Amino acid sequence: MSAKLKLGILISGRGSNLQSLIDAALDSDFPAEIVTVISNVPDAGGLKRAQQTNIPTTVINHKDFDGREPFQDALHDALTSAGVELICLAGFMRLLTDSFVNRWLDKLINIHPSILPSFKGLHTHERAIKAGVRFSGCTVHFVRPEMDDGPIIVQAAVPIHQEDTPDALAGRVLIEEHKIYPLAVKLIAEGRVSVENGAVKIKNAVNPDSAIINPS
Ligand code: GRF
Repeated sequence: MSAKLKLGILISGRGSNLQSLIDAALDSDFPAEIVTVISNVPDAGGLKRAQQTNIPTTVINHKDFDGREPFQDALHDALTSAGVELICLAGFMRLLTDSFVNRWLDKLINIHPSILPSFKGLHTHERAIKAGVRFSGCTVHFVRPEMDDGPIIVQAAVPIHQEDTPDALAGRVLIEEHKIYPLAVKLIAEGRVSVENGAVKIKNAVNPDSAIINPS
């Protein structure tokens, strides 16, 4: 088998999406491996998850830097020296500026808990329920300088229930996040993903035919 794609995961919190990538990478057939986990928050729960699987971790605390650029330079250096080929943002709560995004263009992906381009930003579940839409979900996309923007790789649609609460919906969306993040990484690592005119094309993609109707 050819060499595995080297992943660097950036986190700020509990790291359940990191865990889904750790679990996927434990399968010897998975075409990617996690070479470093970096957190900007010293006590982020996700650091322990990585350490339990002997993945090297680093804390780069944004508060130790005088502004975004030097913080991002330190991130860039750590990622480069670990040999990272694809960065996965997994609940990483710092905005990245153009200089960093452009250095890692199409080698930097994010997971967001909504069907983008709807509900960019925070509190997505609460806002989706308030808006009365019948579906929410999650998106894995390439990162662009504008927040929660960029070519979409995989999405999962999750029906919103009549009496949903943001927490209940978040729980059901999270289950799908944990499926689509490893799937997106796998597709990229297999060399099947390209960006053409601002949109993603996937070689030999299997697209479902049936629609989901809510309420059914
Ligand atoms: C997830 O909902 C992800 O979509 C968003 O931040 C949350 C991170 O959760 N970007 P976790 O730290 O991966 O559990």
